[in-house]
Amino acid sequence: MAKKVDIISLNRKAWNNVVEKYSKSKNDSFNPLVEYFCNELPVYGSLLDIGSGTGLPYAKLFVERGFNYLGIDISSQMIKIAQINVPSAKFMEMSMTELKFENEFDGVFSSYSMLLLSPELMKDVAKRIVNSLKPGGLFYISLNEPRVKNADLDNDVLCEIMGETMYSRAYTEEEIINTFSSLGLQRLKIHRELLNSEEFGVEHMMAMVFKKVE
Ligand SMILES: C[S@@+](CC[C@H](N)C(=O)[O-])C[C@H]1O[C@@H](n2cnc3c(N)ncnc32)[C@H](O)[C@@H]1O
Repeated sequence: MAKKVDIISLNRKAWNNVVEKYSKSKNDSFNPLVEYFCNELPVYGSLLDIGSGTGLPYAKLFVERGFNYLGIDISSQMIKIAQINVPSAKFMEMSMTELKFENEFDGVFSSYSMLLLSPELMKDVAKRIVNSLKPGGLFYISLNEPRVKNADLDNDVLCEIMGETMYSRAYTEEEIINTFSSLGLQRLKIHRELLNSEEFGVEHMMAMVFKKVE
């Protein structure tokens, strides 16, 4: 069923509609891999944040850390609020499925944005991310793992979140490693955390940092 849905249009509409509720749900705590990612990047390095949301907490952190930051998001409403929240950061309305950068960034950051892609789109965006990175560049990804083993991950991918229907899928560690290592990225670190919030319920968060082999 999900294959017949235009995931990008569905998610654009959903995220434009949830912006207010989503803004209220944000907290400003970071998992340890975010700090690791920042510390491993070159001073004043260039950073692309895909699915930059409200700009909080990440765009604010990255600008304060002195990185040359560009946030992209598919939702015009998210971009508007991000520009208010972090006026000194650069944001562009764009889908990650349209990325066309070549060897431009020291780092690419994706916090809870690539779980909104189907496996087919995930593979395509992964290539675009790797092309965007300079040799030796770093890639951070966080998303949800499945709650149970051997679940059919393509079932129930159209979910109601904050009152809006959107596409969202859990990915296993193996799927993410296979996707990115086949494109020449080497995994440096992994971190797992159990999250629980009113908006998203219990989530099995998995974050990884990869390096583009020079
Ligand atoms: C769960 S929020 C995460 C926001 C932010 N990265 C964070 O962790 O606070 C997902 C964000 O991804 C954006 N998004 C969804 N699909 C996208 C796409 N195809 N390209 C770019 N952004 C997308 C949404 O508009 C939303 O702002």
